[in-house]
Amino acid sequence: MFNLKPYMASVRELVDARLEGYLSGTSRIVQAMRYSVLAGGKRLRPILCIAAAESLGGARKAVLPMACALECVHTYSLIHDDLPAMDDDDLRRGKPTCHVQFGEATAILAGDALLTLAFEILSDAGRQSDATQSPRWLMAIGQLAGAAGWNGMILGQMRDVENEGNVLPLNDLETLHRLKTGRMIEASVTSAGLLCGAAPEAQGALLAYGQNIGLAFQVADDILNIKGDPKKLGKAVGTDQIRGKNTYPAHMGLQNAEAYACQLINNALKALDLFDKKADSLRAIARYVIERKR
Ligand code: IPE
Ligand code: IPE
Ligand code: MG
Ligand code: MG
Repeated sequence: MFNLKPYMASVRELVDARLEGYLSGTSRIVQAMRYSVLAGGKRLRPILCIAAAESLGGARKAVLPMACALECVHTYSLIHDDLPAMDDDDLRRGKPTCHVQFGEATAILAGDALLTLAFEILSDAGRQSDATQSPRWLMAIGQLAGAAGWNGMILGQMRDVENEGNVLPLNDLETLHRLKTGRMIEASVTSAGLLCGAAPEAQGALLAYGQNIGLAFQVADDILNIKGDPKKLGKAVGTDQIRGKNTYPAHMGLQNAEAYACQLINNALKALDLFDKKADSLRAIARYVIERKR
């Protein structure tokens, strides 16, 4: 039986050490960036990227810059998501949010700086690699930009905020969740496929896996916002209802939302059928997505 806990801990350690290395210095901006990045997130996206690479027989080191870039983009998205103009949250990763700690202007800039750092990391990786690998990095840069950008996560965030207090039909809710959270999770696994030169079939399977766990992850986030323990989560609960957010439990009830998340995870596991036991990490992560308490 694959043991996910030590696996996650070892990847987290690797990624954290590398992130720490990128963020050296003492300026106010780097202090704010470090504060949010090194606050102790789950590192799910880097872990997915590395697990996907290993499922394909690739090495951790081969995708480490991608794993770090994903975390930088993700942390930037959280800093901005928490801003007063967005979700206006005071607590994140068990600590005061970046704008509470450093002020709004610094938090906005720290988010901007993390987003741009991600692409600096990726272009450096591309420059330092050989003739086979370098075009793959170029493709991965485009893929991350697409997942994070105006037709991806940003579009999802736009729909999330513009529809507060407005009940969306189920189709639109699904699209919202796939965009705001799903796209970055998909990119976490498909970027590894790209960088490891996965065959089209394997890449298709990784995409299907990512799409299913990506949506399930946000459904689980919605559920935890109702019945999670804020101490474990490191963020407030009950806030979605207060802000009139479009969520699965609000739309179909808690039990149906739980059943739906479970169904999505089964789809994700099915997509991995063509992989051998090297993909057991991905299988365990899929289960974790809906069983997690934080
Ligand atoms: C929270 O993401 C925001 C969503 C996209 C649902 P995570 O639950 O991965 O947050 P951290 O990185 O562990 O703090
Ligand atoms: C966060 O969605 C999505 C992004 C940051 C892109 P939520 O607003 O639902 O996540 P939490 O609950 O604040 O972590
Ligand atoms: Mg939000
Ligand atoms: Mg939020």
